[in-house]
Amino acid sequence: MCLLTTGQAVPTPSHTDTLLDSLYPQLGQPGLNVLHYDVRLDIPQPGTPGLRSAVTVLARADTDLTSVQLDYAGPQIRSASWNGAPVPFHRDDSTDKLIIEWPLKRGERATITVTSEGEPAGKPDPTLPMSLGWHSVPATSTQPGANFAFSEPDGTHTFLPCNDHPSDPATFTTHLTVPQGVTAAASGQLQRDQLNPDGTHTVTYALTTPVPTYALSVHVGQLDHVRRPDLTSGSRVIERHDYFPSSVPADIRAPYDRTDQMLRVLTDWFGPYPFQTYGSAVVTSDLPALETATLSTMPVRSSQVRVIVHELAHQWFGNAVPLADWSDTWLNEGFATYAELLWAEAEGEDPTALVSRWRSQLQRGTRPLIATTQAQMFDASAYARGALALHALRTHSGDQAFRAFLHEYTRTRAARPTRTADLFALTRQRLGPDASALLHRWVQDPNLPASP
Ligand code: ARG
Ligand code: ZN
Repeated sequence: MCLLTTGQAVPTPSHTDTLLDSLYPQLGQPGLNVLHYDVRLDIPQPGTPGLRSAVTVLARADTDLTSVQLDYAGPQIRSASWNGAPVPFHRDDSTDKLIIEWPLKRGERATITVTSEGEPAGKPDPTLPMSLGWHSVPATSTQPGANFAFSEPDGTHTFLPCNDHPSDPATFTTHLTVPQGVTAAASGQLQRDQLNPDGTHTVTYALTTPVPTYALSVHVGQLDHVRRPDLTSGSRVIERHDYFPSSVPADIRAPYDRTDQMLRVLTDWFGPYPFQTYGSAVVTSDLPALETATLSTMPVRSSQVRVIVHELAHQWFGNAVPLADWSDTWLNEGFATYAELLWAEAEGEDPTALVSRWRSQLQRGTRPLIATTQAQMFDASAYARGALALHALRTHSGDQAFRAFLHEYTRTRAARPTRTADLFALTRQRLGPDASALLHRWVQDPNLPASP
């Protein structure tokens, strides 16, 4: 989406024809295209919520804008500037917007810097007993404090001003300032680790492939950094880093040893891994796992091979290929769940066990795959029915055609906001009208179609 920071031509998503999100209509500003975020976070006391931030947004207008309206529900703003000069702004708390009162004409770019300081409050998740956004893990007698981001779908703007919708993926530079002895990691590759005069240090990570805002990974704490040998996959070299809180025992860490093999198996099915680095950061909080870009966020209880495969698969499906609308989460969750079967097969297991498990998860009810409420976004249908739909497509088309189809999907949809309709179009083109009709039934039938 951006020539400037990636150095390679990636198609620019168009916002001018994008409708408001069907489930989160308040998110994002139509016509605003953020190319890059430079995020500075000072975390003076890991384990406590206090945060100082300076976020620089490099944005372009796809339509004439009378003001720039970023999503923001975070702590108090200290300053805002536009191309280096102070700019008037105000907050609208009823819509969670930070309104920068300056016009941006179609085709023009602006660099907007916003600084803030305080304790992000987060926001409740519609279905889980947890909050989204900036998380603190308080220190205990056995464990020092930690912080991390957990934001899908709309938590990022509770601590950073951003165009908080997956249809506007961007590249990120993340600078984290933490006390000496504290490890800090974020999406992308490590650029620098600099000692500051006050004894803190600042680590800088650069992610040069665009991802949705919810996928930004940030982890700080007393973490053991496990650097694994680089992985060569085709013509690419992928760095491998995992992070474990020092209190986490060896049996929890063991399944992450399989990650290299997972990368090989999924690359074979999905095409080249889309980033230059990959790993997991384990957290001790009780949450679901989350596919934060290049560095998945993995709770202790999700530290199982199946979940590690699932979050890795999201690096292609969700992170590299972003959603255009939150109603299409099945595109993320269905592919990531299906990866669990591809892995099981590669391990010599019988995949029919997973197929029956998925069907039984849907016995209490299912729905057409495009979600109509926020509560449906991460329900069993998004995961299990989504995976079954892909299994039906593969069984119908054969492995060779299905693999070529997946490679083409990840190649042609990278950084382009994608809808179910785009999957239909490619299915029809590459797998034919019967395959497309089959997929239609799996997507649209109120009941569960029979499995092949
Ligand atoms: N995408 C996550 C996964 O790997 C699930 C996130 C659930 N988030 C939520 N807010 N309910 O399956
Ligand atoms: Zn998932």
